[in-house]
Amino acid sequence: MIALSRRQFICGSAAVAALATTPALAANGVKNLPGGKTEVSLAANKALGSVGGIVELSIKKYGKVAVIRTSKSAKGFAVVNLSCPHAGVIVQQNAGGWICPGPRGHGSEFGMNGALKVGPANSGLKPIKFTANSKAVVIS
Ligand code: FES
Repeated sequence: MIALSRRQFICGSAAVAALATTPALAANGVKNLPGGKTEVSLAANKALGSVGGIVELSIKKYGKVAVIRTSKSAKGFAVVNLSCPHAGVIVQQNAGGWICPGPRGHGSEFGMNGALKVGPANSGLKPIKFTANSKAVVIS
C-alpha cells in the first residue's frame, strides 16, 4: 500500500471532484422547431459527448435550462429548468450540482440531474420533456 501525504490526498481528491463535474457551457447549434420545440445539436456541443457534460441555454417557453449528459446511452440526457422551485432565482453550477445563490437565493442545493439535496426548496429542479437521438436533443 502506498502512503499518501495529507497534501497528496487533498490534491488527489480535488482531481476526482474535477472529473465528476464539468463546467456548464453556453449551448451552440440551437434551432427553434415548429410547435415550440428547441433542437440542441450534439455535433455543435461537444460537451454533451461525455457523461457529466452540461450546456445551458435560454428558451422563451421555460427561461434558462440545462441539458445534461447522464449516461452514454443515446437517450442518456436530462433537461432541467434552472429556476429554483423555492422562489425562482436562477441556480448556479457548483462542484456537487447546482446551488441557489445569495443574496436573492436562499442556498437550496440540487444534484447535477436536478434532484433536491438541501432546502428550503421542497422539490428538485423541474424536469423538462425532451427526445434524444444520435444527432440532437429536442426539448418539447
Ligand atoms: S429562491 Fe432558491 S432557495 Fe430560495
